[in-house]
Amino acid sequence: MEKVEENRKIFLLVLFLFFSSVPRLVAFDYGEALSKSLLYFEAQRSGRLPHRQRVSWRSDSGLTDGLEQRVDLVGGYYDAGDHVKFGLPMAFTATMLAWGAAEYGGAIAAAGEMEHALGAIKWATDYFIKAHTLPNLLWAQVGEGGSDHYCWQRPEDMTTSRQAYRVDAEHPGTEVAAETAAALAAAAVVFRNTNPRYSRLLLHHAQQLFEFGDKYRGRYDESIPAAKSYYPSVSGYGDELLWAAMWLHRATRQAKYLTYAVEKAAELGGAGWAVSEFSWDIKYAGLQILASKLLMEEGRRNLEEKQVEVLEQYRSKAQHYICSCLNMSTADSNVRRTPGGLLFVREWNNMQYVTGAAFLLTVYSDYLTASGEVLHCPRGSLGPREILSFVKVQVDYMLGSNPLGMSYMVGFGRKYPKRVHHRAASTVSYKKDGSFIGCAQGYDKWFGRRKENPNILIGAIVGGPNGKDRFKDMRENYMQTEACTYNTAPMVGVFAKLHHLKAQSSSSSS
Ligand SMILES: *[C@@H]1O[C@H](CO)[C@@H](O)[C@H](O)[C@H]1NC(C)=O
Repeated sequence: MEKVEENRKIFLLVLFLFFSSVPRLVAFDYGEALSKSLLYFEAQRSGRLPHRQRVSWRSDSGLTDGLEQRVDLVGGYYDAGDHVKFGLPMAFTATMLAWGAAEYGGAIAAAGEMEHALGAIKWATDYFIKAHTLPNLLWAQVGEGGSDHYCWQRPEDMTTSRQAYRVDAEHPGTEVAAETAAALAAAAVVFRNTNPRYSRLLLHHAQQLFEFGDKYRGRYDESIPAAKSYYPSVSGYGDELLWAAMWLHRATRQAKYLTYAVEKAAELGGAGWAVSEFSWDIKYAGLQILASKLLMEEGRRNLEEKQVEVLEQYRSKAQHYICSCLNMSTADSNVRRTPGGLLFVREWNNMQYVTGAAFLLTVYSDYLTASGEVLHCPRGSLGPREILSFVKVQVDYMLGSNPLGMSYMVGFGRKYPKRVHHRAASTVSYKKDGSFIGCAQGYDKWFGRRKENPNILIGAIVGGPNGKDRFKDMRENYMQTEACTYNTAPMVGVFAKLHHLKAQSSSSSS
């Protein structure tokens, strides 16, 4: 009897040691993360909220946007914790949401989230259609950072400037016109089967905007100086033009768009620029991966020699990006990592680069699986599974598997940022207390208090930790605690993919 008891103790001890020696053996519910990520976009909605609005602490806002300019600019998304509607990052957000749905629609639908994903995309694309009032005219911003940031108000109380800014033939804005074209074309792919009329409408606007951006070339932040301090275009507009052409080609299969992407590759930097960061500003890696996919799908036989040659140049730059993220490139071009293993590009809102990389790596790993290829890097070769495992490491870090045990997705897990830099979330809900809160009053009463936010911005992904895995959950620490729509947007597809894989593996093992 005693002996059996002793054996049992030893067995339990061995079991305990086994599990405690497996580092951070946690299983995250990616399906839950997927649902929450889509909920976040409802919290960022500007305009008249629909009856089906699930984030119930928000109300209508920005209902006079465009009124002064006699154009209906009601709707769209607030980009982050403030209430400016910045056109370039909003369009990039929509492009990434649509790319995720185009690539992982099956997995999103299987998780029961298709309606919400389409809703999140459409909230942006409906707005872009309204903002594109003439072939060569796009309203590309509402509100202005200076006055907006001067106040800490709920969107429902806004008293700040709602000035609208446009780009047109005399004041060109190639980045924003082309990115909006890319977003509409990517969305046209997504809506093709479920809503073909809408899909055609999206394409019509996408084609006009691309032509406008290409014909009247100029930096958008020079035509809209109000964008410059917040979303300046560092990489110029070459990437947006090529990216829009690739998306239009995918949506229409018209040869002229591929011809554009091939013939202008050198001039616009598409096949020459090897970069290790992908963001609302710099889309080279994204378009290089789209080009790689095209090369694989079309096969060399359906393409002309010159096209194959250029697409291969694009692909080699895509490989450079992937290798750099995996630390398999030459030493100085690898992306740095925090000691805890998170990709680290820069202090301010680093998480945006992680989510963008997670998406591109996931797509590339699928591309390798489909083509049966492996990735050759300067420091060795990798298969699709190794790439996807690395994605999982990044995603798990994001969700709480990190030195602080902190989830950087708000409302996910037990420990997550409670003082997100977000005007609406940090102030009492308008529905609970509708009495007006003035510009400076909000700073005194709500921004400055140390308590947790009264509203949980579920699904938002914040800027995240610094280069040493440290994070200070303070409202004034906007570099780390502010969340942006383009942080979460790429994750919709990634969560769907990981959730789907897990569902498949558990059904095949049972
Ligand atoms: C990245 O590769 C370098 C060698 O080039 C190595 O010294 C370093 O430890 C690697 N970093 C990580 C996080 O694996």
